[in-house]
Amino acid sequence: MPKQAHRRSYQNVFVLFAMAFFAIVSVVVMPKAHGGISTWLGLTSTIGMSSDSQFRFNNISGNGSFTGKSVSKRDNDKRDVNLERLEAGLATARELIREATKLNQTSTLEDADYVPHGDIYRNAYAFHRSYLLMERLFKIFVYEEGEPPIFHNGPCKNIYSMEGLFLSFMGTDTKFRTLDPEKAHVYFLPFSVVMIIEYLFDPIIRDKAVLQRTVVDYVRVISNKYPFWNRSLGADHVVLSCHDWGPRATWYVRQLYFVAIRVLCNANTSEHFNPKKDASFPEINLKTGEITGLIGGFPPSKRSILAFFAGQMHGRIRPLLFQHWKEKDKDLLVYETLPKKFSYHDMLKKSKYCICPSGHEVASPRIVEAIYAECVPVLISQHYVLPFSDVLDWESFSIQVSVSEIPQLKEILMGIPEEKYRRMQERVKQVQRHFVVNNPPNRFDVFHMIIHSIWLRRLNVRIYS
Ligand SMILES: *[C@@H]1O[C@H](CO)[C@@H](O)[C@H](O)[C@H]1NC(C)=O
Ligand SMILES: *[C@@H]1O[C@H](CO)[C@@H](O)[C@H](O)[C@H]1NC(C)=O
Ligand SMILES: *[C@@H]1O[C@H](CO)[C@@H](O)[C@H](O)[C@H]1NC(C)=O
Ligand SMILES: *[C@@H]1O[C@H](CO)[C@@H](O)[C@H](O)[C@H]1NC(C)=O
Ligand SMILES: *[C@@H]1O[C@H](CO)[C@@H](O)[C@H](O)[C@H]1NC(C)=O
Repeated sequence: MPKQAHRRSYQNVFVLFAMAFFAIVSVVVMPKAHGGISTWLGLTSTIGMSSDSQFRFNNISGNGSFTGKSVSKRDNDKRDVNLERLEAGLATARELIREATKLNQTSTLEDADYVPHGDIYRNAYAFHRSYLLMERLFKIFVYEEGEPPIFHNGPCKNIYSMEGLFLSFMGTDTKFRTLDPEKAHVYFLPFSVVMIIEYLFDPIIRDKAVLQRTVVDYVRVISNKYPFWNRSLGADHVVLSCHDWGPRATWYVRQLYFVAIRVLCNANTSEHFNPKKDASFPEINLKTGEITGLIGGFPPSKRSILAFFAGQMHGRIRPLLFQHWKEKDKDLLVYETLPKKFSYHDMLKKSKYCICPSGHEVASPRIVEAIYAECVPVLISQHYVLPFSDVLDWESFSIQVSVSEIPQLKEILMGIPEEKYRRMQERVKQVQRHFVVNNPPNRFDVFHMIIHSIWLRRLNVRIYS
């Protein structure tokens, strides 16, 4: 891969920034925030509340002197009929989902594959309604510009596997992908941060400007060639990354960072991850690229270990965990290096609880490993927005322990009644389908849940021509 291909001007950051003065986008900010870890608002309080009268329009315009409405009136002769049609469809979808949240949770919709139900959802019925509308309406355009290995391609194995798998699924998808950009609700920028690092980043010089050059250049190319970026300033554009530097890669284009939909594993709210517009991407470590052998575990009665963790010491939370628990207890097994006689996956399968502390970054592949092994996850993290927390009620199938409670970890887990544990474990089994990677994807699996996260964020935005 030639390294000089991506060294072009990045002046457009400033041009785009200046354009904010003519912004014609209105972001629908939802009215009510949840407490707890889910700073993002669940279905019931977001889409559920979004009747038109309750929309609050933020003027994303340099000094607030333009509103979407006034601009679109002024430009009446240049009306974008396609966009108006798409927006009308989204408005209807919002209304239907809003109605669904008002109905009793006991209502169900028909579905041959799976009917969402039960406590794992914030509102199962509203989710199902939203999901079906997504399948019927949602269209994604993937920009074709850019060549592999950096574009349209990514790693499909190991810790960043989701980056490559999503790019690959998007590349072959026929349900959501449209080849006609006029019919799209969102526009996907198909670069892989992992690949940029792998091919352009020099580990000795360590010049992170390769990220800047590649990303800025790409946005310049698509914003010159197509009208869509300028029309929304990126609000209907999607980028995705599982790399630790995913957020950093979007920093160089202000609109990419602050306006576009970013799907990130590194969903740290202290680093401007904004759950109203960004989506948390589950980190899944697929060592072989396959999930074979990872799914399933022992029934509760055969789970002989109270809690288990094995992993390296990094970040701020793990040193505390090790200080209190590393190889100190016979029920709560914490290892920095797992003794050779144990198999990591067997340990997950026979533990009641699996400890998932953040490391260098907020996301940990252990969360999905636990769900695959039907082990109740014990989440220890700060500023982390959990994947799909707009739809899933994580409290119903995981334990959240604050950093200050680490010394009492055993006490807390021992204090959970067996019956409550069994209910949670059942729910872990139920929620598994939303994290499973299928190739090709199946309805309601992780690929579809990510698309649904993007769909919800697009519903939060209204774009005017
Ligand atoms: C905002 O900007 C417009 C055009 O750039 C200018 O005419 C207007 O006076 C500004 N308003 C405020 C409140 O600064
Ligand atoms: C948006 O701008 C319009 C016109 O300047 C103003 O009337 C309105 O209050 C602004 N809305 C917000 C939420 O700032
Ligand atoms: C919802 O459920 C409550 C009690 O479960 C019942 O009284 C009410 O009639 C139901 N409403 C609808 C719209 O089904
Ligand atoms: C989008 O805006 C940029 C900066 O103003 C401009 O250079 C570019 O030509 C515009 N793109 C289109 C398709 O008009
Ligand atoms: C989240 O972001 C904050 C602010 O940059 C940082 O201090 C913290 O270490 C991050 N969390 C993790 C686990 O990386």
